Amino acid sequence: MTQKIMSKKKLFDGLNNAKKIRDSLIPKDIQHIQELRRKLLLPNEQIKKVNDELQIAQKIHDLRKELEKHNQLYYNQDKPIISDFQYDSLFRELKTLEKLYIDNISPLSPTQNAGIAPVSELSKVPHSIPMLSLDNSMNEEEIRAFDERIRKALNREKVEYSCELKLDGLAVEIVYENGLLQIASTRGDGVTGEDVTHNIKTIKSIPLRLMFDNQLPLARIEVRGEVIMTKDNFAELNKARQEAGENLFANPRNAAAGSLRQLDPAITAKRTLDVFFYGIGQISESMYKTQAEMLNFFKNIGLKTNPLTHVCKGIKEVIAYHQEMLDKRESLPYEIDGIVVKVNSLNDQETLGIRSRSPRWAIAYKFPASQEITRINDIIVQVGRTGALTPVAELEPVNVSGVTVSRATLHNQDEIDRKDIRIGDWVVIQRAGDVIPEVVKVIESRRTADAKPYTLPKTCPVCGSEAIRPEGEAVTRCVNITCPAQVKEGIVHFASKNAMNIDGLGEKIIVQFLENKLIKDSSDLYTLTVEQIAQLERMAEKSAENIVNAIQESKKRTPDKLLFGLGIRFIGEHVARILVKAFNNIETLAEKNRDELVAVHEIGPQVADSLVSFFSNPENHELLQRLKNAGLNMESADTATEQLAGKTFVFTGALEQFTRSEGEKKVRDLGGRAASSVSKNTNYVVAGKNAGSKATKARELGVTILSEEEFINMTG
Ligand code: IVH
Repeated sequence: MTQKIMSKKKLFDGLNNAKKIRDSLIPKDIQHIQELRRKLLLPNEQIKKVNDELQIAQKIHDLRKELEKHNQLYYNQDKPIISDFQYDSLFRELKTLEKLYIDNISPLSPTQNAGIAPVSELSKVPHSIPMLSLDNSMNEEEIRAFDERIRKALNREKVEYSCELKLDGLAVEIVYENGLLQIASTRGDGVTGEDVTHNIKTIKSIPLRLMFDNQLPLARIEVRGEVIMTKDNFAELNKARQEAGENLFANPRNAAAGSLRQLDPAITAKRTLDVFFYGIGQISESMYKTQAEMLNFFKNIGLKTNPLTHVCKGIKEVIAYHQEMLDKRESLPYEIDGIVVKVNSLNDQETLGIRSRSPRWAIAYKFPASQEITRINDIIVQVGRTGALTPVAELEPVNVSGVTVSRATLHNQDEIDRKDIRIGDWVVIQRAGDVIPEVVKVIESRRTADAKPYTLPKTCPVCGSEAIRPEGEAVTRCVNITCPAQVKEGIVHFASKNAMNIDGLGEKIIVQFLENKLIKDSSDLYTLTVEQIAQLERMAEKSAENIVNAIQESKKRTPDKLLFGLGIRFIGEHVARILVKAFNNIETLAEKNRDELVAVHEIGPQVADSLVSFFSNPENHELLQRLKNAGLNMESADTATEQLAGKTFVFTGALEQFTRSEGEKKVRDLGGRAASSVSKNTNYVVAGKNAGSKATKARELGVTILSEEEFINMTG
C-alpha cells in the first residue's frame, strides 16, 4: 500500500510540473512551425519532407488549441459547444497525429493531461492522488483490443472485469476522516479541484457520517463518484428556467455541474442532485481485494453505488453487458454515455499501472451518439399553458438511436439568435432520454443562400392577441388568458401523470371535448357522462366508460397534486408539496398574502407573487370552488403527519437514544425540515452529550434547545 501511494505521489509531482509549464505549450508549437517555415526558405532542404512536417505540425497545433478551448468550455464554464462525440473524434485525431509524429508528443498536450485548472471563486483543493480520466473505446474491435492488451500484460487467458455504467455527470472526491465528511471537491484538472463541501452536503444521498456500526471508523478515506441530475429533475429545472426567462442548461450534466458549483448552497439544495460512488483516492487501510468488493464495502458504509454494476468473466460478457445497458439506456432515470470496464482485481490494477492521464486497467466503452444531422424544413410556434410562444423546428424526419424525430424545440428567440438558426439550415439534433429533441448547432458550411432567418410573431398564432416579451425575459407570451391554446394546455397539464394522473385522458381527447363544447375548463371534466363522451367521433362506449371512471378516480388525488395541476406559474411539484405541507389546505393557501407566503421555508417572492396574483383573480377562485364542489381534496387527510410542518431542526452532539439520521428522518416524516447548521431560521436544536458550537450559537440566537428525551416526547 505504501508503495502504491509512493508511486502515485511521483505521478502527482509529475502532473504538477507538467501543469506549471503547460502554458508554454502553444508558444512552443508556434516556434516549431516557424522553424520549419524558415527551413523551407533554405536552399538545400528537402522541400517535400519539410513541407509535410510543417503541415502536420500546424494541424497538431490547431487541434491542441481547439481541444484546449473545448476543455475550458466544458470543464470550467459548463458550456460545451460541441458534443462529447465530436470532442472525442478531435481528441483521437490529435492522438493519431502525435503518434505519427513522435517528436511532437509533449507531456503538455491535451492528450496527455486531464482537463485544465479551475477558474472560479470557489477555493482550490489539491487531490492527494490525481483524479484520472479514462481512455475511450468506440466499438467492439477496440474493446477487444483493450482486453488483448490486458491479457498479454497479465499473461492470462481470461480476465475478470467490473463493468459499470458511465454516468454522465461530474466527478467529485469526498474525504471522510474518522467516518465524518470533511471536504468535498470537484475533479478540476485532476490535480486540483474546487471546494464544493457546502453544496455536497445538500445532496440527500451523501451521508455526513459513514456507517461503521460497531467497528472503529477508518481514519481517512477519500471516495470518488459521479454527481448527477436525473432526466426528470433536469426537465423540470429547465421548464422553470424557461418560464422565468432564464438561460437553459444544455443537458443534465451541465445542469449538475452548474448546480454543484454554486456559491450559495441553497440554490444547489433546490436542484435535487444525486450521486453514485465508484472509486477511491487515498485510504488509511484497505479491506478488499477487488473493485466489486470495494463497491460492496462502499454500500456497507452507506455510500450509494449503482445497482447495475456487474462482474463480467471475459470480454464476451463485457460486450453482452454493453448491449444490455444500451437497450436499457432510454428507460434509465439518468443519462449514461457508455459503460466503464475495470480490471476487477486490485492487484492486477497495480501491476498494470497508469499512464499520465488515465489508468491502463480501465477503459470507457462508449455508446453510439444520440445525435444526427438533418434539415429544418420550417419553424412553427406552439402556445403553452402559460401562454409562452415556443418556436419548434419541423425537421426532415431522421432516425436518432431508434426513434424517428421530426420536430425539435428551439426554446426561444434568444436561443435561435445565439445559434443563428435559419429555416433551410442543416443542423445537428440531439435526443437525450425523455427530453424533447433539440437543435445542438447549425452546420454553417452547408448553409445555402436561401436559408431564411426567423423571428417570432408579434401576435399569438392561435387567438391573434398581442404577444409580449417583457423586458429582461427570454420568453414571449400571449397576453390572453382565455386563449384556446392556453386553456387546452392547461387541461392537458391538469390531467397529466404528475398532476391528477387521469389515465387515458390525453391531448387528442381533450381537444375533442373542447371542440364539441363539452368542457370549458378542468372542473367540467367531473360532470362528463358516458353518454356525452360516447357520442364523440371514433369513441366506443367502453372507452367512454373508462374515461369517466378514470376522471372519477382522480378525485382521490392529494391536494398537492391538485395544486400542481392548477398550472400556476412557478408552482412545480416540489413547491406544491411544500405549500400543502405548510398550509394543509388549498383554500387556506388561497387566502394568504405575500408576507405569509414568503415566511415559509423555500418559498421565495417569485412564487408568492404568482400565487397571490392567481388567487386574486375571481375566475380562478370560482374554478377552485367548482373543483371543490366536484369532490376534489382541498385538504390533506392526514394532518397528524404534518405536526412539524414549517419547523426546522438541527441535531448536534453525541446522541444516545437514536442516531442523527434517525432523528432527521423522524423530523421529515412529520413534515419538518432537518438542517445541518444553526441560523435564525432554526426552530429547535436537539443537543446530545458534548454539544459544542452549534448549541452555543443556538443559545446566542435564542433558539430552543431540546434534550433527546424532550425530542422523543415531542415526536412520540
Ligand atoms: S472511474 C480511474 N467510473 O468518466 C478512472 N468514471 O472519463 C477514473 N465516470 O472523470 C474514473 N462513470 O467523471 C469511473 N463508473 C465510472 C464512471 C466514471 C462516469 C466519469 C468520471 C470521470 C470520467 C472519465
